[in-house]
Amino acid sequence: MTLNPVFGLGMVAKRLPKLIRQLETPPTRVVAVLDRGAKTAMHNSLLAGLQMLNVESKILTWSPSEKRKSLAELEKLTQRMIGAGLDRGGLLIGVGGGITTDMTGFAAATYMRGVRWAALPTTLLGMADAAIGGKTAVNLPQGKNLLGAFHMPQFVLADVASLSTLAERDWSCGMGEVVKAGMIGSPSLLRRLEKASRPQLRSCGADMLAIVRATAKVKCTIVEEDPLEHGRRKLLNLGHTFGHAMETAAGPRRLAHGEAVALGLQCALDMAVDQGLAKATYRQRMLELFEHCGLPVKYPGKLPTTAELTRLIGRDKKKAKSSVDVILPLQAGECVIVPGQAPRDLALQIQRSFG
Ligand SMILES: NC(=O)c1ccc[n+]([C@@H]2O[C@H](COP(=O)([O-])OP(=O)(O)OC[C@H]3O[C@@H](n4cnc5c(N)ncnc54)[C@H](O)[C@@H]3O)[C@@H](O)[C@H]2O)c1
Ligand SMILES: [Zn+2]
Repeated sequence: MTLNPVFGLGMVAKRLPKLIRQLETPPTRVVAVLDRGAKTAMHNSLLAGLQMLNVESKILTWSPSEKRKSLAELEKLTQRMIGAGLDRGGLLIGVGGGITTDMTGFAAATYMRGVRWAALPTTLLGMADAAIGGKTAVNLPQGKNLLGAFHMPQFVLADVASLSTLAERDWSCGMGEVVKAGMIGSPSLLRRLEKASRPQLRSCGADMLAIVRATAKVKCTIVEEDPLEHGRRKLLNLGHTFGHAMETAAGPRRLAHGEAVALGLQCALDMAVDQGLAKATYRQRMLELFEHCGLPVKYPGKLPTTAELTRLIGRDKKKAKSSVDVILPLQAGECVIVPGQAPRDLALQIQRSFG
């Protein structure tokens, strides 16, 4: 399997029809699910691209939220697909943030027992992470992403210029995953981030294009080696075991996912330094980089108790676990998977880092 996401600046109208024409079998119809938040940045180029095809197409707009990343909303969306005449030979395209691509991908995995799909991510998190790797899902009331499938998109096409309309907080959240990718597998990505000024990064031009490409490359390389997450793909969870617990405890208003990941990266760095696996200078360098990227370095508010953090860390998709894996950073671009950690020890690490 080779993943080859296409990144560029303002090229969707041109590249989209080309990529669709390159499919092994031409689609009978194309239906795009467009994130309302991405409308300003993407609607016109999407429409222009679709109009260049010799096949009927339709754009369905929807407003994403974690609450609406649900089975009920999936049912409504698939009914709109039926209305748009999408059949088994059709192509579904998810255009938007991670919620939209996750939801569209899952719709594609199940619609008429599976149709082809493509992703056009329009958030930094989507381009760097969510749209790459074929994991698709919706949420259940009991938890996030509990119902899903591995369903690879036919292609991933991202216009980095579309990030210019992204809200500041969504931008920094994406940066959490970008820094994570650098720490996992790309020292040059970390250097590039350090060298670029905030306005350069925020301008969503050539610097950001290079950064998004390098970030996606880290994920692609790992997913190609381990598509079903049996081994190395776990590296992508760097910062997430700690981060998820803090995210749940604080709630999404106080701590959005990417911000929680940044705090989780800090815990992992602290733990690695305490165990003599990483140098204190590397930890300090990364903390400065978090601040440069608009990411938090302190837990907002009062930390939950160790018992509560232990419970949150041990809960893996509703199943209490007595031991979990933790990923520890060794040096720029290099991490190690350490299995068999007691959730309480990780909770104590969060207390040491932010208590
Ligand atoms: N499948 C995977 O491997 C994977 C990996 C990581 C995260 N995810 C999922 O991704 C989701 C989070 O994705 P996200 O951070 O992109 O959030 P999101 O999809 O909620 O998008 C964030 C906000 O940005 C808006 N938006 C989208 N594009 C825009 C643009 N160009 N300009 C302005 N606003 C825009 C959206 O409408 C939304 O309000 C979560 O549900 C998570 O579970 C999936
Ligand atoms: Zn994440």
